[in-house]
Amino acid sequence: MNNKYFNKKIILSNYPVGLSKKDDFSVVTEEIDPLNDNDILIKTKYVGIDAALRLLLRDSDDFLFRVKKDDLIRGSIVGEVIESKNPKFSDGEYVLGSLGVQKYCVSTGEDIEKCDLNLANPEFWLSGMGIPGLTAYFSLLDVCKPSPDKNVLITGAAGAVGSIAGQIAKLAGSKVIGTTSSDEKCKWLIDELGYDYAINYKNKDWFEKLSSVSDKRLDIIFDNTGGQVMDESLKIIGMKGIVLLCGSTSQYSENEIKGPNNYIWLGTMRARLQGFVIFDYEDRYEEARINLSKWLNEEKLKMPTHLVEGDIDKFPEIFEDLYKGKNYGKFVLKLKD
Ligand SMILES: NC(=O)c1ccc[n+]([C@@H]2O[C@H](COP(=O)([O-])OP(=O)(O)OC[C@H]3O[C@@H](n4cnc5c(N)ncnc54)[C@H](OP(=O)(O)O)[C@@H]3O)[C@@H](O)[C@H]2O)c1
Repeated sequence: MNNKYFNKKIILSNYPVGLSKKDDFSVVTEEIDPLNDNDILIKTKYVGIDAALRLLLRDSDDFLFRVKKDDLIRGSIVGEVIESKNPKFSDGEYVLGSLGVQKYCVSTGEDIEKCDLNLANPEFWLSGMGIPGLTAYFSLLDVCKPSPDKNVLITGAAGAVGSIAGQIAKLAGSKVIGTTSSDEKCKWLIDELGYDYAINYKNKDWFEKLSSVSDKRLDIIFDNTGGQVMDESLKIIGMKGIVLLCGSTSQYSENEIKGPNNYIWLGTMRARLQGFVIFDYEDRYEEARINLSKWLNEEKLKMPTHLVEGDIDKFPEIFEDLYKGKNYGKFVLKLKD
């Protein structure tokens, strides 16, 4: 390595209580060691802001991949190879990996994938072409199987996963209803993403509206948030309906995680709660990406990516904003050069 590189990375300084705050994170600067054989030096261009991270910032071993105090914050990045001692990677190539919230990353090549920029722009590899798009694709098409006769509710509809899931359910011809936290986001879901209905769950009459637009029948509840919205919705689950447990964002900042009360309706309606983890589909990512990029290029699918530009130390603020619902689609920090 001819040049000296100084990394800047975000580590955990306190286990957050409730919503995470700026002070729960610190910035550390360090010089990068010379590369070993097979190493690749990557300059981060985009950092994905993941809701699931909050669940990992607990002083508990209950969850896999936990982040302990002083650990590097986990996160997916898209970056450019700037030096390579690995014959499989060349300078200038774009790669994707869960390499953490930092300005530079060193990889041996085993934990990264190449981004084919002919399929989609680099930032889309964190949204529609990344884990959110893949999750929406497989959990809907492989597990929920939407069709024209079905009513589909997407909770967390305006988020990274939800914004793609709603569009895929629409492509399958279903009636698609989304929930989100503001009237502006509801308008965006309908005008920009083609949702049939969008409901602001902060309004007192949200459940009446949901019952009315769905004719009291939800065949698929694609649940990103858990909490009260998911719980109330179970009262109108359709016969042999499915509740896809994609995520439980409303519970991730809580000390005590609460489950649904209204499970009893599932019994009467022969319905099921279905768990889902995207990593089970790793060997089929390529197939999904070919279809997702085809839909993107045919303008059948948007890959909403909410870019915020800044230095790596902007991460804590954006992570806080994610939990305030400020994102439209995937929240991504675009690093300044
Ligand atoms: N199963 C899998 O393999 C898999 C893979 C990827 C992601 N996930 C899960 O999918 C879910 C969505 O992830 P994402 O990356 O797409 O995040 P996201 O939806 O882009 O961002 C989080 C959103 O959660 C909503 N939110 C925040 N606090 C809330 C609360 N108290 N109650 C209800 N909603 C709240 C906000 O939207 P509003 O403005 O609408 O409130 C916010 O925009 C997460 O639970 C994540 O863990 C699962």
